[in-house]
Amino acid sequence: MLIPEDDSFLFFRRTMSEMSEHPIYYGGDYNPDQWPEDTWQEDMRLFRLAHVNLVTLPVFSWAKLQPAEDQYDFGWLDRILDLLHANHIAVCLATPTAAQPAWMSRRYPDILPVDEQGRKRTHGKRVNICPNSPSFRRFARAIAVKMAERYANHPALAMWHVANEYGTYCYCEHCEAAFRVWLQERYQTIDELNSRWNTAFWGHTVTCWDEIVVPSERNDDNKWYQPIMLDYLRFMTDSNIACYRNEAEVLKAATPHIPVMTNMSGYIKKIDQFKMTSAMDIVGWDNYPSPRDDRALVAFKHDLMRGLKGGRSYLMVEQSPNQQNWQPYNVLKRPGEVRRLSLQALAHGSDSVLYFQMRQSIAGVEKFHGALIAHAGHEHTRVFGECAQIGAECARLGDVVTDAVSPARVGILFDWDNWWALELSSGPSRDLAYLPQVVKYYNAFYRRNIPVAVLPVDADLSGYDVIVAPLLYMLKPGVAEALTEFVRCGGRLLTSFMSGLVDENDRVFTGGYPGPLRDVLGIWVEETDALLPGQGNTMEVDASDDRLSGPYACGLVCDLVHLRGARALAVYGSDFYAGMPCLTEHDFGQGRAWYVASDAEERLLSDLAGLIAAQCGIEPPLAVPEGVEVTRRVKDGREVLFVISWLDKPAAVDLGSVRCTDLLSGRELSGSVELAPGDSLILQSVR
Ligand code: GLA
Ligand code: ZN
Repeated sequence: MLIPEDDSFLFFRRTMSEMSEHPIYYGGDYNPDQWPEDTWQEDMRLFRLAHVNLVTLPVFSWAKLQPAEDQYDFGWLDRILDLLHANHIAVCLATPTAAQPAWMSRRYPDILPVDEQGRKRTHGKRVNICPNSPSFRRFARAIAVKMAERYANHPALAMWHVANEYGTYCYCEHCEAAFRVWLQERYQTIDELNSRWNTAFWGHTVTCWDEIVVPSERNDDNKWYQPIMLDYLRFMTDSNIACYRNEAEVLKAATPHIPVMTNMSGYIKKIDQFKMTSAMDIVGWDNYPSPRDDRALVAFKHDLMRGLKGGRSYLMVEQSPNQQNWQPYNVLKRPGEVRRLSLQALAHGSDSVLYFQMRQSIAGVEKFHGALIAHAGHEHTRVFGECAQIGAECARLGDVVTDAVSPARVGILFDWDNWWALELSSGPSRDLAYLPQVVKYYNAFYRRNIPVAVLPVDADLSGYDVIVAPLLYMLKPGVAEALTEFVRCGGRLLTSFMSGLVDENDRVFTGGYPGPLRDVLGIWVEETDALLPGQGNTMEVDASDDRLSGPYACGLVCDLVHLRGARALAVYGSDFYAGMPCLTEHDFGQGRAWYVASDAEERLLSDLAGLIAAQCGIEPPLAVPEGVEVTRRVKDGREVLFVISWLDKPAAVDLGSVRCTDLLSGRELSGSVELAPGDSLILQSVR
């Protein structure tokens, strides 16, 4: 169904448990308040042409909705909601709290944050708030109450959207006071805090809670004292979540059947998103790949979003239909590119394709950001045409993939505490970066079209055959035990250098690295060498081992490994540790564990992924040429395969004897099918 009929509007108003019937949400951020009302009718015409069925508003309109402390103006919002409803377009209704009015900042300056340099910010921009400001919490809740009261029963309301891209870190006195309370709850006694922070180092000992100061750049703790920094980042995640809950609670109470969520930034480091999304009904995120980003990074982020709520589908709340404005060089999306990225989102578990934004602004920082309706103002543009096609295709898909699952036998661990702690640490190399390394390991499976689930470190591992845990630097309580048990019971574990080093407070495990993972890996690591830029080593493989095709290049860091039961599959080729193991394999219980002791070239990881998958009998859903992505979503026992070509030449895809319908074109296919450069298929077998 393309555009729901009036009475089928109820269809957007289901409880979360009934989500299996919704269409793909198609549309995005709409800022009608930036335009005279007489453009709105034209917007409706264009939205319908593009098959838009959902818009998000009024994200940044607090100043217009509440022009003074005791004055509200909802008239214009009433009118646009009614108009959208009359045009069969549902609304993701946003609280406008990401941009407070100027009068509010002026009268209640506790709302304004203090930045990392210790500077009190003045009013301006957006997401420019102290998350622990009492005034902000009070006003944000009040506007949420007003909106809930006014729109709870509006027939266009499909979803609530709270604020926008949380992620402020603040270092003000309110935050400092709240941080002390947070620490007291976490550690109970000051002695426990001193012990967990290991404050004997450089005399960091504190004798009462009031001696704790926030780790801003006014002291050096934000660079030199990881335990406090780590807790501050955890505390800031909790502070931002508290802001979200402050509004979400009100909305949920008024409309228990309507999903409440927020859009998380695609720059994902700032907030622990496992925690953030546990407060949300559905995961929402903004996908803004940089022009040079590898498709694996985008695919990984999608899989991460799906992983945040245990494999449930999510919403891609924003992407640009064309260029961005905030990259150094804002490359146009090439013809077909936005369609490919949209289908990639659907392929990995999104139930929406939503854009920022519907109509291009005429002023301000985003005036050169892409939009469905460009400055030209009509539908006769390349981008509008492409978007209208995607809209038509989403409409054709209906509810075939929404709320579908994406089964995977390989899981990869991802953890914010680990990320923060690893990158806060001073040494061994400034070039250590968690996300690119995780994506590198993920990519080894992804390139082979082996489905991967992204898991938190405390996930139930029992449903997986393989767990990949790159740079698992921090082992929180229970994690080493769970991984050990997983392998003992027959699982396959692949982990790497910079793993098993510290506990949840960044205190090193003594007795040899990788700490509590030594037994399962059958090794111990004595030292770690950091390589200078441009330096490398090699991983030399025994010529009789035909499972690997070494030698492989490696670099960044090299662990000096001793075997304690494991076998060496490769040894270093040079330096004073030439001949020492750099890739090990260990049979443990019913399972097996591998350790990659240096930053190996992609070919090694790919060979390893192939070797491990073969041992477990894991195969891609469809054998396709290199450069073609295949993913599977399953709903009500029926499988849908997304086949996406990232190639600039045609590709032959062999469907074998199975007869499939391509849901994009409606064609029935079997045998060898030619996929045009950059084109896609969405296949469902004919019953
Ligand atoms: C973010 C914001 C949007 C918009 C886009 C532009 O994701 O949420 O409001 O500014 O960036 O790319
Ligand atoms: Zn603050």
